[in-house]
Amino acid sequence: MRKKIGVIVSGRGSNLQSIIDHIAEGKLDVDVAVVVSDHKDAFALERAAKAGIPAAVVERKGCRDKEEFEDKIDAALRNAGAELVVLAGFMRILTGHFISRWEHKIVNIHPALLPSFKGLDAQGQAVDYGVKVAGCTVHFVDEGTDTGPIILQKVVPVMDDDTEETLAERILVEEHKALPEAIRLWSEGRLSIKGRKVYIAR
Ligand code: GRF
Repeated sequence: MRKKIGVIVSGRGSNLQSIIDHIAEGKLDVDVAVVVSDHKDAFALERAAKAGIPAAVVERKGCRDKEEFEDKIDAALRNAGAELVVLAGFMRILTGHFISRWEHKIVNIHPALLPSFKGLDAQGQAVDYGVKVAGCTVHFVDEGTDTGPIILQKVVPVMDDDTEETLAERILVEEHKALPEAIRLWSEGRLSIKGRKVYIAR
């Protein structure tokens, strides 16, 4: 039986699109059971609609507190039968309230080679620091920010004349490969976690 994933987004949704395309091309054997957005006007919602994927909008401002916000996201995912939660450009930090219920079942894509350049504006941080390589990381989510066990990373060169935008564009190409690849490894039951390390069965 095909495994079900839930994808949480905030905006453009190009990583969601990459997941949708990999599934359509037969390269990823999962179903996106639901897309959850914390913005009602996220372009990602149009992508979900076009692909016939059910969506739920859960806005922080419509909730009493962060716990209620996370409870609603949790309910949308569970009602859809999601077995893995994929954060694909979700711009909020989830708290332990949510994360403890999905231990080792949440993955995130971060546009930097962790543990460098955590948090916001990772590509700008990389340009400012003057690193010669950058990239992206797919990792399991723990209660820290961008600190969970790393599943895989992809590297790109940084050019002398790169701006935050040109570097972000180069990294995004790799993000669109890395996230579906990590989901595929999970769906094939090939990921195991021991401490900080993720082992990939061959
Ligand atoms: C990506 O760069 C992702 O790594 C970061 O936010 C961006 C989202 O892009 N967390 P998109 O919404 O998937 O197009």
